[in-house]
Amino acid sequence: MLPRTLGIETSCDETAVAVLDAEGRVEFNCLSSQVAEHAPFGGVVPELASREHLKALPMLVERALEGAGGSPELVAVTAGPGLVGALLVGVRFAGAFAWGRELPLVAVDHLDGHQVSPFLDLEGGPARELPERVLALVASGGHSAWYSTESGETRRLCRTRDDAAGETFDKVAKVFGLAYPGGPVVDRLARRGSAAAAFFRQPRLKDGSNDFSFSGLKSAAIREIRARGLEGVGEHDAGSDALDLLASFESAVVRQLLGPLPDFFAKYQPQVITASGGVAANTLLRECLAEEGRRFGVEVILPPLGLTTDNAAMIARAGQLAWAGGRCADARRLDAWTRKVWHPPGMRRSPTEVGSENAGECS
Ligand code: KG4
Ligand code: ZN
Repeated sequence: MLPRTLGIETSCDETAVAVLDAEGRVEFNCLSSQVAEHAPFGGVVPELASREHLKALPMLVERALEGAGGSPELVAVTAGPGLVGALLVGVRFAGAFAWGRELPLVAVDHLDGHQVSPFLDLEGGPARELPERVLALVASGGHSAWYSTESGETRRLCRTRDDAAGETFDKVAKVFGLAYPGGPVVDRLARRGSAAAAFFRQPRLKDGSNDFSFSGLKSAAIREIRARGLEGVGEHDAGSDALDLLASFESAVVRQLLGPLPDFFAKYQPQVITASGGVAANTLLRECLAEEGRRFGVEVILPPLGLTTDNAAMIARAGQLAWAGGRCADARRLDAWTRKVWHPPGMRRSPTEVGSENAGECS
């Protein structure tokens, strides 16, 4: 039996709190979004994010304690990667909460959280057990990578060398004059366009690796928007020209994300393929992944739409699994991880695993 777990997530611009029961059922899941506060700036303002977390967190935790099926027995908090000030609000709050109630505390890596999100159910069911071999895509505003997990050990297979997929959606959408965050708007508009209208070439890295590179695609899309006189056109005045261009751009992002899949599938023979992170809400990506699953005869598990973007249910679940694997943090000493630190749930971390990629970015 796993402990009933309070999850806290404040790594970027969503303050999220959730409670999971002993079988990983989501008893409470709540989120206070700061999108409206950051929208005028066209991106997340770190200082503003921290202050909004400070305001929202105590209230959400109070509601979680009332809404859950019982008192939490474990506290799980995102300790990194993300915006340092924003992370610190959650980490200090969780530490004080755990210390005051004499509960164990687990520090969770945000990316581990995304990777367990496909195994959660928002309809009241228990969490699914993680199969032995999982091939996982994580694509969000700060991160794009494929991972392979085998018997509890996770390896990153490829990653973006520059922009993340969600960031690419957001930046191209901004030039179009679409609302922030642009990914969901592009998704909505692209459904009405034809991807055959324009073609964006896929990048080829000189070293022949499977890594992604989205900055060339971003620049090519922006050049095309300007060449067609569509800069700042906005959602309501988007004609077929704009819709077609958005559909072509979206299709190029999805093609790139799924490009390495056949290779990885052949090499790692996963029992399931998953996708998570904000971009896993994308309609075309979900359709294409389902298609690939049919082609390879393997199950594709996607998170419920309510759990693709940042949430605390995934943090609580990753925390439960880490706790079951023997991990625990010191409530008085836990600090935010300012650098990207990734590891599989339940695995112990050694100082040499600490990397420096994506410092201070949301994921
Ligand atoms: O995982 P997430 O909530 O947060 C972080 O990046 O930390 O991901 C947010 C990203 C944004 O870039 C957003 O534009 C993108 O996910 N996104 C989408 C869709 N929904 C959210 N991108 C494409 N299609 C969508 N439907
Ligand atoms: Zn995220």
